[in-house]
Amino acid sequence: MDATTTLALARAIHVIGVVLWIGGVAFVTTVLLGALRRHHDAREGVALFERLEGRFALQARIVTLITGLSGFYMLHLLNGWERYQQPHFWWLHLMTLVWLIFTAVLFVLEPLILRRWFHRWARRDGARALALVHRMHRLLLALSLLAVAGAVAGSHGATLF
Ligand code: HEM
Repeated sequence: MDATTTLALARAIHVIGVVLWIGGVAFVTTVLLGALRRHHDAREGVALFERLEGRFALQARIVTLITGLSGFYMLHLLNGWERYQQPHFWWLHLMTLVWLIFTAVLFVLEPLILRRWFHRWARRDGARALALVHRMHRLLLALSLLAVAGAVAGSHGATLF
């Protein structure tokens, strides 16, 4: 297989990973959390969130891994490591930052700290715990969408900054 086809395949895998991952984050943020916060019983809302987000976390872990591996592989194929030293590749920095944040949350912080912390806090005040989780999801979704827009524009020749 020639290098152009390999790069195209890696790009396709990368984008499928991004769609499954950020698409899932978008659903949780714009649909699920809003609906759960309007649930008449906050405790039930919290329990549903823990169950559904727990299932999505496994999918998110797998696609985060696939997106990261395909991303670094593309950088290797493009011989593009020095892009990290060039400010106009800000979208590469942002993609990598988003990936690092999700990797830390999904593989370290959530299983070791956040899950227990959320569970304990939600038992005392479910509505406020869900509101904070919603705010965090909105922030991460906004960062992720900025990374997607920057990456698509940037890798097709636009230099926004
Ligand atoms: C370790 C993290 C990541 C690395 C190393 C990485 C690397 C790359 C590379 C090298 C490209 C191709 C650039 C080019 O053709 O010039 C690319 C494209 C892209 N990446 Fe990432 N990426 C990472 C994470 C992410 C994340 C987290 C997102 C989404 C939030 C993302 C979304 C995209 C998109 C949408 C494209 C553009 C596809 C296209 O239109 O051709 N990447 N990435």
